[in-house]
Amino acid sequence: MADESPFRNTVLKGKVALITGGGSGICFEIATQFGLHGAMVAIMGRRKHVLDAAVASLESLGIRAVGVQGDVRKKEDASRVVETVVEELGRLDILINGAAGNFLSAAEDLSPNGFKTVMDIDTVGTFTMSHAAVNYLKQGGKGKGPNEGGVIISISATLHYSANWYQIHVSAAKAAVDSLTRSLALEWGTDYKIRCNGIAPGPISGTPGMEKLNPEEAGISSGDAVPLGKMGEKWDIAMAAIFLASESGKYINGAVLPVDGGSWLAKPRYISKEQLRQFGRAVEQRSRSKTQLPNSKL
Ligand SMILES: NC(=O)c1ccc[n+]([C@@H]2O[C@H](COP(=O)([O-])OP(=O)(O)OC[C@H]3O[C@@H](n4cnc5c(N)ncnc54)[C@H](OP(=O)(O)O)[C@@H]3O)[C@@H](O)[C@H]2O)c1
Repeated sequence: MADESPFRNTVLKGKVALITGGGSGICFEIATQFGLHGAMVAIMGRRKHVLDAAVASLESLGIRAVGVQGDVRKKEDASRVVETVVEELGRLDILINGAAGNFLSAAEDLSPNGFKTVMDIDTVGTFTMSHAAVNYLKQGGKGKGPNEGGVIISISATLHYSANWYQIHVSAAKAAVDSLTRSLALEWGTDYKIRCNGIAPGPISGTPGMEKLNPEEAGISSGDAVPLGKMGEKWDIAMAAIFLASESGKYINGAVLPVDGGSWLAKPRYISKEQLRQFGRAVEQRSRSKTQLPNSKL
C-alpha cells in the first residue's frame, strides 16, 4: 500500500492531463494520482480493453477519465487523440509521454527493425505527441489564459547514463528522449511558456517493464544494488510527476529528474569502512616517514 500523498488533493484542480501509456504500469499510477489530486485525465494506448479497464478503475475513484485508442508512432492518431481530449475535457494542460516498448536482447541478436521499433515508440512517439499537443499546451491555447503555458513530462530512464547489458535499443531511445526534453524546454519554454521536463525512473516494482527487463527467471533482486536498498514504487514516480506538473515546479524547465534511489550511481563497496580506517592510518604513517627530510627539525 503506497504512502499518503504529501500534496494537497486540489494541487492539480481544473487541469487536464493526457497520459500516453496511461492504461498500465507507472503511467496508470500517474493517471490515478493526478485524478486524486484534482485533474481530469485522458489515457492513450493501443489496446482498447486495457484502456476500458483502466478508465473504469479511475471512474470508480470518482476521477473524470477518458480513454482514447491510438498509436503514438502515427501522426494522424496523435492529432486525433489530442483533439478528442480537448473536445471531451475542454483543454489540455499536461502531456505525459510514457508510452514505451522494451525487451531484453543481446546487441547482435537484435534486428535493426527491433531497434527501430523502440526508437519509433519512445523517441519518435514522444516527439509526435508533443508536436500534436503544442498548439493546445501553449499560452493562450484553447481554454487557457494568455500567460498560462502547459507542461510536458517525458518518461525516460537512467540506463544511458552509463551503459546497460542487453538494452542497447532502450538506452539509445531514452537518451534521445532526454535530448528532446532539453531542446523543447529551450524552444517551447521561450516561445510558448511550456515547461518541458523528464522523469528517469530506476527499477520500479510491480510494473510490466520490470517483468520484461528483470524476469523472475533471471533470479536478480534489483533492490540489492540500489543505495536506498529497495526498488521504487509506481507511487514514487507519480509523486515526482505531480511535483513537476504543479505550481511546485513552476521554475523547473529542461530538467530530467532521476527517481531511482540513487541506483545509477551504485558501485560495489570495495573495502569496508573499518578496513579503510586502519589501512588509511597505516598509509598515512608510511607516507609521512617517506617525506621526512633527513635532517628535518620538524
Ligand atoms: N518499469 C520500470 O522499472 C521502468 C524503469 C525505467 C523507465 N521506465 C519507463 O516508464 C514508463 C512506464 O513503464 P512501465 O514499466 O510501467 O510499462 P508499461 O505499462 O509496459 O508501459 C507501456 C505502455 O505504453 C503503451 N504503449 C506501448 N506502445 C505504444 C504505442 N505505440 N502507442 C501508444 N501506446 C503505447 C502500452 O499500451 P498498449 O500496448 O496497449 O499500446 C502500455 O500501456 C515507460 O516509458 C518505461 O520505459 C520504466
